[in-house]
Order: sequence, then C-alpha cells, then structure tokens
Amino acid sequence: MTHPRPHAPARPHAYGVVGAGRVGSVVAARLHAAGRPVVGISARSQASLLRARTLVPEVPVRPAADVAADCDVLVLAVPDDALVAVCEELSTVLRPGQVVVHTSGRHGLDALSAATRVGARAVALHPAMTFTGSAVDLGRGCAMGLTAADTERALAEDLAAVLGGTPVWIDDADRVRYHAALSHGANHLVTLVAQARDLLQGIGAGAEAATILRPLLEAALDNALDLGDAALTGPIARGDVTTVRAHVDALATEPSSTRDAYVAMAHATTERAAADGRLDPATAAVLDAALDERPRVSGPVR
Ligand SMILES: NC(=O)c1ccc[n+]([C@@H]2O[C@H](COP(=O)([O-])OP(=O)(O)OC[C@H]3O[C@@H](n4cnc5c(N)ncnc54)[C@H](OP(=O)(O)O)[C@@H]3O)[C@@H](O)[C@H]2O)c1
Repeated sequence: MTHPRPHAPARPHAYGVVGAGRVGSVVAARLHAAGRPVVGISARSQASLLRARTLVPEVPVRPAADVAADCDVLVLAVPDDALVAVCEELSTVLRPGQVVVHTSGRHGLDALSAATRVGARAVALHPAMTFTGSAVDLGRGCAMGLTAADTERALAEDLAAVLGGTPVWIDDADRVRYHAALSHGANHLVTLVAQARDLLQGIGAGAEAATILRPLLEAALDNALDLGDAALTGPIARGDVTTVRAHVDALATEPSSTRDAYVAMAHATTERAAADGRLDPATAAVLDAALDERPRVSGPVR
C-alpha cells in the first residue's frame, strides 16, 4: 500500500501556446507573468516570431508539435478557420488527460473533437477584447466567454483569472450568437465611428473630429450600457421627421455605404423607439417612409 506524502505539492501545470498572433503572444506573456511554466510558443512567420520575442522573450519558440507534446494545458490561438485543422494535426501528439483550450469566440467544443477523441479535455475560452498583439494588451482586463464540461470548470475559471479575465459561461449552442453580438457591437462600432469621422472631416473638421466625437460617443456608450434603449436621444426619439429627411438628403452626396448604414440604423432605431412606446406608431410610420424616400440630391455625388 502506498500513502501520498502529506502536503506534497502537485506538479504545476505546464502550459504551451500554438500561435504567436495577437492573442497567443499575450496569453503566453500573461501566463509567464503569473508564474505559470510555459514550455513553448509556436511561430512560423516573421511577424509572429517578432511578437513572441518582444512580448515573451523568456519562453522558447518551438515547433507546434513539440509545444503540444510537452505541455499539460495547450492553448490554440490560431485563426477560426484554421482551428479544426490545427487541432487534427496536433492530435497525433496529444495524450489522454491533457487540456486543450481554444480562444475563438464563435467555435464551441466541437472544434476540439480531434483532441477529445484521444482523451484530451476541451475548453473554449474567448477573451472578449480586441487585441493588438503588443504591450498595450497586457494590462487590460475583460470578460472571458467560457464553454467546458463541468469537470473542467475549475480549470477554465482559473485560466480565465490568470489571463486577467472575468469568467462568463456560454452554452455551447449559443457561441455563434454570443460572438455575433460582440462583433456587431465592437467591430461595427469601429465602422460607425469611422463613417461619422469621415463626415466631419468632409466639412473640414480635421483633427477636431475626434474632439467632437469622443465625449459624445463615450457618453452615448455609457448611457446605452446603463440605461438600454432609454438612453436614446436625437431626432428619431423626438419624432423630428424633417430633420431625419434633411439628414438623408445631405447624405446623398456621401459614399453609398455611409448613407445605407445611416438608413439601416435609423430604421432599427425607429423600430426600437416605437417598440418601447416612446414613438407613437403614426410618427414611426412617417419616419420609416421618409427614410425610404429617394434623397433630393443638391450637390455632386461622391
Ligand atoms: N485579435 C483579437 O482581438 C481576438 C480577440 C479574441 C479572440 N480572438 C481569437 O483568437 C484566435 C487567434 O486570433 P488572433 O487575432 O490572435 O489571430 P492572428 O493574429 O492572425 O494570429 C494567428 C496565429 O496563428 C498562427 N497560425 C495560423 N495557422 C496556423 C497553423 N496552421 N499552425 C500553427 N499556427 C498557425 C499564425 O502563425 P504565423 O503568423 O506564424 O503563420 C499566428 O501566429 C482566433 O480564434 C480569434 O477569433 C481574437
């Protein structure tokens, strides 16, 4: 009969990262900074090599298969469309009990089925943050969209915390909608802001465009997150149909993508204002009709 030595420290998990991209290099750096042993990070391109050398010079750059074979917890930080193939490829060196984590928002546990087939344990851990792959990412906290079996729950939450995240559990079946929500909010916000900035620069605002937009947009974002639809102000919330019509006419000379985005967002805004009763149905119908009118062009079409 053997007895475990009292208080024998368990060997700490050894971590490995495949993909020294924007996310992988930051994951490796944060693991290393937290004192977790990182056996290696893989990088193929010069850009990835440089990111690894800059953000986490203490961690050796090694072939992906060596990293996968030598770690206990393997993080796959590769593009969404490469994930399944990379997991298939590395499954030949994985062993039962190893943990394989991916950082994709849209993928669930299915993407790691090649790993689970050989007895590895799967975790999806998506940092709800935009990464640049530079030092500015290292201090940022964010939510971590987690999906895993109950048996991996503690490990997933520990990893999320080490990476500076707040765990948020997402059902496997909901991951695509979860990721669509974040992309719609964050990625399309970038386009919306860029279009607003272009319009201001078109009237000569130059660098002042940011001065005008920053406090307004920061307040709108804070209010929207705190108050929801009740945060809405502006001509649609007031039912100022002539102002909306004037906007559509003024945008006729702008790139069609800007005008189309304005009209689509204005329809959506009208629908939401009508749904919560702040806009009466008759005014909402007039607004919708005004948005669909052909604009009266008064200048050169850009
Ligand atoms: N960027 C973000 O803001 C962000 C935020 C949250 C989650 N994510 C998710 O994190 C994952 C990685 O995104 P990312 O932005 O870090 O991508 P990325 O910057 O494009 O980096 C991808 C990395 O994967 C490597 N790679 C590509 N194909 C590979 C293969 N077949 N074998 C081994 N390595 C391979 C690339 O290596 P080489 O350059 O050497 O070819 C590169 O280092 C994605 O699932 C993404 O959805 C991204």
